[in-house]
Amino acid sequence: MRQSPLVVVAHRLPIDDSVAPDGACEWRRSPGGLVSALHPLLRDTPATWVGWAGGTGPAPHLPDVDGVRMHSVPLTGDELRDHYEGFANATLWPLYHDAVEHPEYHRRWWEAYQRVNQRFAEAAAEVAEPGGLVWVQDYHLQLVPGLLRELRPDLRIGFFLHVPFPPPELFMQLPRRAELLRGMLGADLVGFQRAQAAHNFAQLAAKVLQLPATDRRIAVGDRVVRIGAFPVSIDTAEMSALAARPEVVDRADRLRQDLGGPEHVILSVDRMDYTKGIEQRLKAYRELLASGDVKVRDTVLIQVAVPSRERVARYQILRDRVEHQVGRINGEFGRVGEPAIHYLTQPFDRAELAALYRIADVMAVTPLRDGMNLVAKEYVAARVDDTGALLLSEFAGAAAELPQAYLVNPHDLEGLKQELLRALRATPEDVAARMRAMRDHLRHNDIHAWAGSYLSALEESGSLLGRRVTA
Ligand code: ADP
Ligand code: G6P
Repeated sequence: MRQSPLVVVAHRLPIDDSVAPDGACEWRRSPGGLVSALHPLLRDTPATWVGWAGGTGPAPHLPDVDGVRMHSVPLTGDELRDHYEGFANATLWPLYHDAVEHPEYHRRWWEAYQRVNQRFAEAAAEVAEPGGLVWVQDYHLQLVPGLLRELRPDLRIGFFLHVPFPPPELFMQLPRRAELLRGMLGADLVGFQRAQAAHNFAQLAAKVLQLPATDRRIAVGDRVVRIGAFPVSIDTAEMSALAARPEVVDRADRLRQDLGGPEHVILSVDRMDYTKGIEQRLKAYRELLASGDVKVRDTVLIQVAVPSRERVARYQILRDRVEHQVGRINGEFGRVGEPAIHYLTQPFDRAELAALYRIADVMAVTPLRDGMNLVAKEYVAARVDDTGALLLSEFAGAAAELPQAYLVNPHDLEGLKQELLRALRATPEDVAARMRAMRDHLRHNDIHAWAGSYLSALEESGSLLGRRVTA
């Protein structure tokens, strides 16, 4: 088994699970923040990505992709159900997102979570070079840092949580809370999207495990674990360059013509997820149509909602409800050849997404809770001429970095309607000033800056060993 100096461990590999007849495979760029963030980073890096390749058969042997080794970890059908769909996406996901849907607890799911985490830890232990660096990602694999440290104490281990980390009042619900905290504390550095999350984690380490903890360091026996906020980002230059390509500009012009040349285009791009606030947003839009504040001929709403986690009951229910809502709104307010909402559930390639971002006068990103929301950042990066208004939920991690957006509380329907109208009616000067400031921020705070700051903090974490933590 060849070993690598850098190993990324994530529940999913970034490639399609179907390998072409000639054995070649493509980067998957599946809709989702984790793959979007890590893909531009790893290209041409001598690294190994450990993850699940999709499907429930034996682990396929995959060729390297863009110089990165793909090491697949198999899952059985029962593990897919109990680990991925169960503990990860029906217990932790809702709990970590403010319990906007009720988290479910089942002992069988926890057993599968442990088993799958053990398998990922063993795979990482196998492919990491002596003294190498292993970077574990997200809520599916919170036990991996601890398990990996037992197998390979020589490694430098990082953990990054892409989703929010909840306040103690919510986390305390988890029947296996102590084990999950201990698992994460196997890392040398635990990174979060926001400082508040690091604070929540430190409080829990002190309360549940009685460890000396500050918002920057936690003492675990003779080790010091560093914690901190590292807001994830996008490849800003790449998205800006893509949006400026002549074929993307042409495509955007054609899209606008196909829409009948409306005065305003509003766009939303989400995974079909109950955290994204899709139902609330559609309700607000329906009321604006009903009151006549928005008119179908002048204004077009494009809602892209790519299906996600489709075997999880809550996601099936959400999709049915959204489709019912869209059908109803189009039935009530659409005209022949002029639907009120253009509803698309297809995955798009990056160029098509960039063209969509280009035609959006207002981008509505209104999740009820979101770790970061990369779509908001992609939109800003694509607005190369400083036009376009970003309507952004206060509950998205991105809001802390983009205060110049039109910020909204998506639970407040009236507020949502008013802010959407404000964004639609804003002067070009106001819009441009806000967009310039946001673009400036993202130019300096891109995915490379994120990885650089995380990895240098991880390098430094070793030098903290032996220092005392005063809580
Ligand atoms: P989450 O992490 O919850 O999936 P983010 O907004 O952080 O949400 O990331 C979503 C990523 O998925 C973005 O990079 C976005 O471009 C991509 N994406 C969303 N919808 C689609 C789609 N229909 N086709 C292709 N990519 C998509
Ligand atoms: C979020 C999570 C990722 C996940 C992605 C897509 O970004 O933080 O870990 O990969 O959603 O979800 P999926 O279940 O399709 O991997």
